[in-house]
Amino acid sequence: MVDNKKVLFSAMQATGNLTLGNYLGALKNWVNLCDEYECFYSVANLHSITVRQDPAAFRKKNREILTLFLAAGIDPVKNCIYYQSQVSAHAELAWILNCYTYMGELSRMTQFKDKSAKHADNINAGLFTYPVLMAADILLFQADVVPVGKDQLQHLEITRDIAQRFNQIYGDVFTVPEPYIGKSGARIMSLQDPEHKMSKSDENPNGSIYLIDDPDTIIRKFKRAVTDSEGCVRYSENQPGISNLIDIYSACTGKSAADIEKEFDGKGYGDFKLAVGEAVVDVLKPLQERYADLSKNKDYLDGIIKENAEKASYFANKTLRKVQKKVGFPEIIR
Ligand code: TYM
Repeated sequence: MVDNKKVLFSAMQATGNLTLGNYLGALKNWVNLCDEYECFYSVANLHSITVRQDPAAFRKKNREILTLFLAAGIDPVKNCIYYQSQVSAHAELAWILNCYTYMGELSRMTQFKDKSAKHADNINAGLFTYPVLMAADILLFQADVVPVGKDQLQHLEITRDIAQRFNQIYGDVFTVPEPYIGKSGARIMSLQDPEHKMSKSDENPNGSIYLIDDPDTIIRKFKRAVTDSEGCVRYSENQPGISNLIDIYSACTGKSAADIEKEFDGKGYGDFKLAVGEAVVDVLKPLQERYADLSKNKDYLDGIIKENAEKASYFANKTLRKVQKKVGFPEIIR
């Protein structure tokens, strides 16, 4: 609890271009949560270096992602938005939690399996212990809830296991967090391969809509989206491509799948794909305008980055000191 409000934590990696999946599955839902929760949102750049990054491009990307958080409408006064690398307690708690996490549980993580298959030349220890750092992120803030897309549920589960294990040994140290899944958009799939999630790291740029894509590109990508063979706009397991487009249209317009089926009854895929593209352009337009404005305002951004890193460090260090004490580390003499 902070000021009698429950605490919420979430983060996004600073890798690749943020996609419509990141927006509909996470970012969009973050915007209004600060009325109910004390919210902390981090640019998870420590996680990003589990894959090789070019330093100059990476530095730029960090700032781009943080600016997109703001452009999406997250108020930096009511929420704490910061870079994970600027709060050293993340790495310190991650080390401690590594010692309370088993190799067996980490080997079962599907993201580790997927990523190590993709980066077979760089299966580093960080990639393996990635979920422990995620647990440290969440537990540092004593988060009650963690808004994520469905792909992160397994990591939330292991976070809960680690928290409960630690609490069993040392008493109630950590709040055990609950996942918070948005009503729509929790699993947006690739436009080119609807069996796989839309992902920043997809090598085919036509599979993903990036938040900074211009309107023509967005419409073109939707026109090229893979559809199915039934020829009608109907939500069904046999039509993963169309069902994904229905999910996207629903998340952008607030309409239900049943209403969307009615709206496009008797119409072809072409009309539907264009309508989805236009709905996405409309949703992203204000975000893109704010992004362009904010990017020009260096001093404003720098101020937010500095203040919020201090605020995040203050709360994170409170938990870290408590954990260090519980484990038996000698206290710092001041
Ligand atoms: P990341 O950066 O891959 O994704 C950020 C958020 O976007 C959601 N998301 C999606 N939602 C719906 N459909 C999709 N296609 C889609 N793709 C991504 C993710 O579920 C996530 O909510 N490890 C995390 C970052 C992280 C984190 C944390 C998250 C680090 N520490 C602590 C929560 C709590 C990651 O790689 O997310």
